[in-house]
Amino acid sequence: MSEEHTALVQAPGRHRGAGATAVAHPNIALIKYWGKRDEELVVPRTDSLSMTLDILPTTTRVRVDATARRDEVTLGGVPATGEALHRIVAFLDLVRDVARMPQRAVVDSENTVPTGAGLASSASGFAALAAAAAAAYGLDLDPTALSRLARRGSGSAARSVFGGFAVWYAGSGADPAAADAASYAEPVPAGDLDPALVVAVVDAGPKALSSRVAMRRTVNTSPLYGPWADSSGDDLTAMRAALLRADLEAVGEIAERNALGMHATMLAARPAVRYLAPATLQVLDSVLQLRREAVAAYATMDAGPNVKVLCRRADAQRVAAVVRDAAAGTVVHIARPGPGAHLLPAEGR
Ligand code: PMV
Repeated sequence: MSEEHTALVQAPGRHRGAGATAVAHPNIALIKYWGKRDEELVVPRTDSLSMTLDILPTTTRVRVDATARRDEVTLGGVPATGEALHRIVAFLDLVRDVARMPQRAVVDSENTVPTGAGLASSASGFAALAAAAAAAYGLDLDPTALSRLARRGSGSAARSVFGGFAVWYAGSGADPAAADAASYAEPVPAGDLDPALVVAVVDAGPKALSSRVAMRRTVNTSPLYGPWADSSGDDLTAMRAALLRADLEAVGEIAERNALGMHATMLAARPAVRYLAPATLQVLDSVLQLRREAVAAYATMDAGPNVKVLCRRADAQRVAAVVRDAAAGTVVHIARPGPGAHLLPAEGR
């Protein structure tokens, strides 16, 4: 186990009743997670595989407060309300249940990712919350258990527990306890790849439909869902091999077809779910043009109109300039593989 991963393991009770601060980064799936087989436990139907980024982190502080009557949550300095608050309190209830500690908490989270725009803010958000809450409530979790915990907040958060490339297993078994135990992420070996991911933000606004609702509708109504889920298993096998031999072209081709297939399942849902906007297609055209000019560049999109373009690190500036000019108002970020979720050193309180 690497240092990065052991850093997550807490001595029991070390932070009990105290506070902890954790940082986590978003991850972008190259093989997508789309569809749950257990909604309550957030167990997916298919395995997925992602790259954790080195940009747009979330920093979350959790302090157990024995005197508080309810959880106090601020997101970017603003008190959380509604669905956002509900999801965080439900997640803290889960942590309290495992820790057998009823005390409420004060949570303060700073997200550098625009929330709810299909830019993986829930992945970094719940990975950071899981790491900080587990430490604050004195839970002694190994990385697998932390990944399973983060999964309960938002599926994709299971992968942000790890740095670099990570696979998240759907697990098997109809029994909920067995499915829960078998669905976690772990690092994936990759060869000497030197990738960059150019994040093209064409619209930073919140999405019209949550991924939770969109996935459910796709699984329940799209005739293309089953075929995509089957082919995604083959894509994952091919992706693992391509990563091992550091074949960026193959990694990109598999990622792009997997993402376009996922969006095809949504377009065929009833009623259709469409996250792709005109600007998305303009960026996709520019990626095709880059390939015609012999630049290895491949696109992937999540539950939103924004595009992430996989390329070699050496080509990242050129790719960023081309995709930025493809659609008016596009903002680009260049990401590289980043670290897994980790705690910041304890504060002197
Ligand atoms: O973790 P959620 O519920 O936000 O689902 C995210 C799903 C996708 O981003 C579209 C794909 C993925 O694997 O991250």
